[in-house]
Amino acid sequence: MVKVTVLGAAGGIGQPLSLLLKLNPKVDELSLFDVVNVPGVGADLSHISTDAKTDSFLPSSKEDKTALGNALKGSNLVVIPAGVPRKPGMTRDDLFNINASIVRDLSQGIAENAPDAFVLVISNPVNSTVPIVAETLKKNGVFNPKKLFGVTTLDIVRANTFLAQLFPSEAKPTDFNVRVVGGHSGETIVPLYSVGESKKFYEKLSAEKKKELIHRVQFGGDEVVQAKNGAGSATLSMAYAGYKLAEAIITAQSSSSVVECTFLNLDSSIKGAAEAKKLVKDLEYFSLPVKIGANGIEEVKYDILNEATEEKQLLDVAIDQLTKNIEKGVAFIKK
Ligand code: APR
Repeated sequence: MVKVTVLGAAGGIGQPLSLLLKLNPKVDELSLFDVVNVPGVGADLSHISTDAKTDSFLPSSKEDKTALGNALKGSNLVVIPAGVPRKPGMTRDDLFNINASIVRDLSQGIAENAPDAFVLVISNPVNSTVPIVAETLKKNGVFNPKKLFGVTTLDIVRANTFLAQLFPSEAKPTDFNVRVVGGHSGETIVPLYSVGESKKFYEKLSAEKKKELIHRVQFGGDEVVQAKNGAGSATLSMAYAGYKLAEAIITAQSSSSVVECTFLNLDSSIKGAAEAKKLVKDLEYFSLPVKIGANGIEEVKYDILNEATEEKQLLDVAIDQLTKNIEKGVAFIKK
């Protein structure tokens, strides 16, 4: 039985993400939760003739915790795109304070109602919201580092697409699976183009072109924000990316393990995490390729950090910034 719950299902990301999940034949139940509009989204999706049973949950008031509990009960996988996207005039701190509270309250609901579920965090800033989820689950004594994932997949998706665009007659986006490590905003995002399938194309680029390409991956989200002209940030590509990671986890439940990059807690109970931690100046969280099996993260593939000598400087900058982002998340819960 696979039950997936989407928290923030009526939003710009939540709706297309829920649609993609509804199309997955391995999903038996799709549970949609939001604080607005979710009955309509649920009714609409429920008419699609795929097998996933669809249900929606809307709290009757701010104090109502029952709807969230009912949405979550029995879930194996919870995806969180709830929050507010950055609007013009809003600082990153404004966004942080709103989304941090939303994510904390939803995590409390997960701890109480679906303590064994896989949790995928999309709500930004992921570098800080993932520590918030972890700390909340820890407080409740139900934290499993093997099952908590910060979704950085959109950075990989962009890295593949943008490299292929530079070689239109020689390469397609699907030729690549660029390992993108670090975090999920700006300079914390480090695409390791110098290793794997991308290497032979990347080597053909001038130093200036390489710099431009990396900058485009790190700040790709801004292209969408500008093009949407005040109407929000990436939703469709983010939904695709979130679904891709959810699908990998669902697949790993019934067949062989899969490797995906994710922002994870480098807890020593995970194979390779202690080695990874040493390579990133003892950071508690970092995005790296991981092997995912039926019970979650089985192994962290840290060797890639030794191979990527060309990106050493980028990694140093990312580690520096991430330290502050992670501290901010932890401090929010501990205050
Ligand atoms: N519980 C559940 N859902 C909530 C809550 C809450 N406490 N608070 C807000 N939401 C819902 C909103 O009602 C809305 O339907 O989250 C949804 C967010 O959707 P949008 O406003 O359309 O934002 P979106 O573009 O989907 O981005 C959501 O993902 O990438 C990040 O930075 C982005 O943090 C933002 C989040």
